[in-house]
Amino acid sequence: MTTLRHVTSINDLANEEVDRVFDLARRFLAELGDTRLKGRARGRRTSQRIGRSAHTGAGSILANLFYEPSTRTRLSFESAMLRLGGGTITSADPASSSAAKGESLADTVRVVSSYADAIVIRHPRDGAAKLAAEYASVPVINGGDGAHEHPTQTLCDLFTLSREKNKLKNLNVVISGDLRGSRTIHSFVYALARFGANIMLMPGAKGMELPAHVDWRLRNEFHCRPVPKEKYARESAVDAAYVTADEPHQLSLMASPEMEFDVKLKKGVDVVYVTRFQKERWADQKQDYMKVDTNFLKDKRYKRSSVLHPLPRVGELDIALDKNRRAAYFQQASYGVPVRMALISMLLDFDADHALEKFESGFRAGKYAIYEQPRKIGIKCANPNCIVHDPQEGAYTANRFQFIASEEPRLRCFYCETDIENFLAGHRRWRHYEAADAGLAAPGTKRLKDVIFFADAAEAKAAGYSPGRSAAKAANA
Ligand code: NCD
Repeated sequence: MTTLRHVTSINDLANEEVDRVFDLARRFLAELGDTRLKGRARGRRTSQRIGRSAHTGAGSILANLFYEPSTRTRLSFESAMLRLGGGTITSADPASSSAAKGESLADTVRVVSSYADAIVIRHPRDGAAKLAAEYASVPVINGGDGAHEHPTQTLCDLFTLSREKNKLKNLNVVISGDLRGSRTIHSFVYALARFGANIMLMPGAKGMELPAHVDWRLRNEFHCRPVPKEKYARESAVDAAYVTADEPHQLSLMASPEMEFDVKLKKGVDVVYVTRFQKERWADQKQDYMKVDTNFLKDKRYKRSSVLHPLPRVGELDIALDKNRRAAYFQQASYGVPVRMALISMLLDFDADHALEKFESGFRAGKYAIYEQPRKIGIKCANPNCIVHDPQEGAYTANRFQFIASEEPRLRCFYCETDIENFLAGHRRWRHYEAADAGLAAPGTKRLKDVIFFADAAEAKAAGYSPGRSAAKAANA
């Protein structure tokens, strides 16, 4: 039996699976690429485009459910499926679909699962793709959910880098722009860390730093070592930098991050990744925002940098750069078709030699205990834009978290993956609450089943719980 596989996060794909997607994408480019563009293409190189079709997907249908604007993602998914010989059905205007009548996403994907063989979803809410995956009976691919993730954009970004630079390991990557609101960046930094790149972050404006939970995951789950701030104090635009260990098990053997940073940065910046201000995710629609132009790139460390942008750009990337040999963003957009052809082929088993379920590692197994409590009581996801808070969708979601048993335990929303750091554990039987501790998820214990988590003492009290011994002591201290 084949297992149903979804791609809601870049972390749903193991590194070797990403490599296999790229092998197949390269094969599509080589076999189906249109070389007639040569010479006509502007800029330094030929735009690579798939010009012919394969027939491996004949008879299959891809459904696009887009609840937010899109050009590249939607059209390249459609083009990819058509190039594979399959068909597409698309709902891209919420006003003209049953969503306008109040139909939930959960019901829509249940229905569309019987119309199509895979579903691509884009939605303004963080965690919407995970909700869709819970209700779909065909593979769900996240085409961007709120500020959470955009895994197939990351596949295109990495594929571009693998072609531009021939490797991902040890690349020095500067990421600029709206680090808080850009879902493309969140998927991208996880992937860069997993493939061993070094990351330097330049928020486009104050307040646009990487979300704290993404930073935590980079440090604690993806083997990134933060470089001390003094190291880049002279660079006012840099907010954070991380070096990645060459091999995870070498962490303890590695020189200090400061030394690593100096050595690694000496060779210059390999990649500048620019993103636009995600104004649709901010209350304040107008912000001063950094611009990447020839002036920015004239520093000698950018001499060999490739400039990437997921597009659309709206002023933060100077059009004067388009003819610059370092500009790789249109090339990057062109790879959307072969990369998505490869992913669809593998998810839908179009080619027996390239099927995802044949990979040994499969999807990354969940490392953390899943915790669920009734929706009406206790803690809720702290991210106001999470799908669980959507008035239409909330009823279809569970109050479900991953319990991260680190020294300071964390609750990670099952849907949007935002972490809650401070919370209380109420004992269901004794109706006492205490600060949550990692031991609740110790192997072999069932203690997680005995508790209800609360955001704070007021919430616990309102539910009829009183402070346990250490909570009372802490309150009196
Ligand atoms: C991105 C997105 O939708 O997140 N666009 C895309 O898919 N290429 C980037 C953006 O909108 O800024």
